[in-house]
This record gives sequence, C-alpha cells and structure tokens, in this order.
Amino acid sequence: MKNIKAIIFDAYGTLFDVNSAAEKCKDKIGDKWEGFANYWRTTQLEYTWLRSLMNRHKDFWQVTEESLDKSMKAFDINTSMRSELLDLYKVLSPFKEVPEVLKTLKGKNYKLGILSNGTPALLNELIESNNLKNIFNDLFSIEEVGIYKPNVKVYDLPIKKYNIQKDEVAFLSANTWDVSGGGNYGYNSIWVNRNKNIFDNLDYKPSHEINNLKQLLDIV
Ligand code: LAC
Repeated sequence: MKNIKAIIFDAYGTLFDVNSAAEKCKDKIGDKWEGFANYWRTTQLEYTWLRSLMNRHKDFWQVTEESLDKSMKAFDINTSMRSELLDLYKVLSPFKEVPEVLKTLKGKNYKLGILSNGTPALLNELIESNNLKNIFNDLFSIEEVGIYKPNVKVYDLPIKKYNIQKDEVAFLSANTWDVSGGGNYGYNSIWVNRNKNIFDNLDYKPSHEINNLKQLLDIV
C-alpha cells in the first residue's frame, strides 16, 4: 500500500476482545457464555444503528448497559452478574498479538489512531488498563459527532484532524460492516478476519484481508 499517512484502528472487536468480559465469567455463566457474549455484542451494535436512525443518541456506555440488560434476560443470567460484567467490559483484553504490533508501528512514520464508537472515557480506560498509553496520536470517539458508525461524519474525523486524503488512511476493523463503512467512505479498508467469517454485500470489498494484526506489518 502506497502513500499511507495514518493507520486508524477500530477498537471493539478489532484491538480488544469484546467476548473477554463474559469469558472471564464462564465458570459462573456456564457453557452458554459464548452465545450470551455474541448476543450482547449483536444487540449492542443494533442499538447503535437504531439510535442513529431514530435520532435518539445515547453514548456507548449507556447502549452497552441497555443491551446487557436485554441479553441477561434472554440468557437467564442472574442479575447479580451485572456489575461484574460491566466492570470487565471497561478493561477488555487486547487480542494476543496487538500490543507487540502496535509498538512496532509506533517506531514508523505514521499517525496512529483509534476511531471508535466508545466514549473518550471508555477508550482512555481501555488504553490505560492495557498499558498502551503512549502508542496513539489520537483516540477519535464518535461522541465528537454524536452519531454512530457507519455514518460518514465519523470517518471524517481523522481526515479533518490530519488534513490528509481519504486514500492516505489505512483503516483496520474486524467488523465487516465497519470495513464497508470506511471503504465506502474512501479509506483503504483492511479486514481483520480472525474467525474465517464471510464478508458483507455492501458494495465495498476490502483492499486487504488479514487474519492476524501481525500481517499488517507486511502491507504498510
Ligand atoms: C467500535 C465498534 C464498532 O469500536 O466496535 O467502534
């Protein structure tokens, strides 16, 4: 990939494992922990899209709590687990290779950013709890524009801040719809496909597909 000036990462699901909160409680939740974690994540995302369409914004933490409440009912999980799951969601673990890859990129000549639905406070806590504090130039939160991904106002944020062209951005997401959102906007969108998923039919096909963030180092 040529002329890349900024490498921008999605946070939830791409750098940080959204299932890790429920996984850490799997002894208490039992075998259904993974179905529950997937349901929580899907509901959380649906709420972001629906709220954006309804013009009824609530921040990502509120959406995460409200989607958790529905998911706990759906999976018959004892309400005493609520605060533990939420506390763990604030300090999600990164995928294994992430810290090393980010530290390698830090030594190169790119702007490094996160572009996420998360609030500034949530993003700061994720970064600090995982000792990644000095890696990023910017943590871009959708709270700056008050609407969720994949609205174009969100993908505009790094372009405006760095005064660069859309195709000078390499954007990485594990969320297929976010890869499409960034790609349709004009980024070089790279799909981090860790689980052999199937891509969406939303007009854009990723400029690259990798199954591990380490492979990014062969591209940029
Ligand atoms: C984010 C969601 C898409 O971090 O995972 O923006």
